[in-house]
Amino acid sequence: MKIAIVGLGTVGSGVAQILTTHKARTAARTGTNIDIVHAVVRDLKKPRDCDLPSSIVTDDLAVLNDPAIDTVVELIGGTTIARDVVLTALKNGKNVVTANKALLCVHGDEVFRTARELGRTVCFEAAVAGGVPIIEAVGQSLASNQVTSLEGILNGTCNFILTEMFLKEKTYNDAVRLAQEKGYAEADPTMDVAGTDAAQKLTVLVRLAFGLRISTDDFLVKGIDSLTLTDLQQAAHLGYRVKLLCTAKLHGDKLELHCQPTFIRREQPLADVDDAYNMIELHGDAVGKTWFSGMGAGQMPTASAVVADIISLAVGRAQLTFPRLTLLEESTGITILPKEEIQRRFYLRFSALDKPGTLSRIANVLGEHKISISSLIQHDETLGPPTPSTDDESYVPMVIITHLATEGQMLAADKDLAKLKCLAPPHVRLPIRD
Ligand SMILES: NC(=O)c1ccc[n+]([C@@H]2O[C@H](COP(=O)([O-])OP(=O)(O)OC[C@H]3O[C@@H](n4cnc5c(N)ncnc54)[C@H](OP(=O)(O)O)[C@@H]3O)[C@@H](O)[C@H]2O)c1
Repeated sequence: MKIAIVGLGTVGSGVAQILTTHKARTAARTGTNIDIVHAVVRDLKKPRDCDLPSSIVTDDLAVLNDPAIDTVVELIGGTTIARDVVLTALKNGKNVVTANKALLCVHGDEVFRTARELGRTVCFEAAVAGGVPIIEAVGQSLASNQVTSLEGILNGTCNFILTEMFLKEKTYNDAVRLAQEKGYAEADPTMDVAGTDAAQKLTVLVRLAFGLRISTDDFLVKGIDSLTLTDLQQAAHLGYRVKLLCTAKLHGDKLELHCQPTFIRREQPLADVDDAYNMIELHGDAVGKTWFSGMGAGQMPTASAVVADIISLAVGRAQLTFPRLTLLEESTGITILPKEEIQRRFYLRFSALDKPGTLSRIANVLGEHKISISSLIQHDETLGPPTPSTDDESYVPMVIITHLATEGQMLAADKDLAKLKCLAPPHVRLPIRD
């Protein structure tokens, strides 16, 4: 098997390391030698984290037309050049391995359709949850099931930041800085902390598990960038941990979909996933609940998944299963539950004027929207001290836990609460996973 790797950055050089260091092991498992015949980079002068002969490293994408190549491994990222590389490879008769969730989220239709039409295969295990074999699990190992719910911590960077904030009492900015120093977060961490990266991974999983072609604009996506230590500590005080949670849950033929920071009960496995680890809790109608966990990113965990895809192509397994995956379903009968109808309990935190009548005003607004209060916490040491204001009135932190309410009710209440003069920012609202 002759492959070309496009991109020798973090993941690409990890793939090259495995294939060169463990050539005999890979050959024994596939019954064939896997040779890297071309590796394409942007800057030929950059030092590389792998030992490939300089004769095969090039900055010329035209080498991908080499008829000797069986498989193109796309590891450059992004949605423009990567799209060209993948589509050209398929049209030239090559199979493709990619770790690029952004590409599959934005151009998945075109990529999968082109591959199907041309009888080629696209493998993408590394695109979701790095080293955790969730694509294989959903597409193959659990093929006898209808997935009924899928909830996951899919962004290791966010999970690392939240862990550092909670366990080490760091501010959000300090935790982001540490994530950057450790190589978990990019110089511009927006894609991770705004929830976009996790939401893109959710679209890939939803497509595979429910045959639904969606974009990140089709559902509620919120990041961790406005969370404070106070909320994480308050969650713990109430018996929860806060995680950036992606959810896809079937209610009949409606799919509840969202990606947002969520309170998770401390005794639940998802609450116990720290650092840069990912976890997916998946419920199938036959198997019941299953959990998949491991490193969601990083050089070798991601390379592990990429090389597994290459091996799967080498033995011919991927070519058999790819045509049957539910990636191009025209109609499964499943539609997205409108976000206004999603029902949860909520955690609300306000800065409230410390005067008689404040509580009744808040309760009135919630009552007008038929939201009932389950519990209320005020003047609690975990919430911090009151904030004095210039006119000698102080604002005290207040937490309310609601009973079940819909997102629609809460959105309407948010607007009316924002008009109350007895409340000052912040106005935090986080869903609770029961
Ligand atoms: N890093 C992770 O932990 C991780 C985890 C899961 C999935 N992924 C996905 O894996 C893919 C690669 O990520 P990465 O972290 O390895 O990225 P990276 O470190 O930035 O590496 C990108 C590589 O692509 C090369 N490249 C970029 N544009 C190119 C062009 N026009 N022509 C030729 N080569 C080009 C770069 O060349 P130069 O080195 O010469 O600049 C570099 O070698 C992305 O889709 C990412 O989402 C990454």
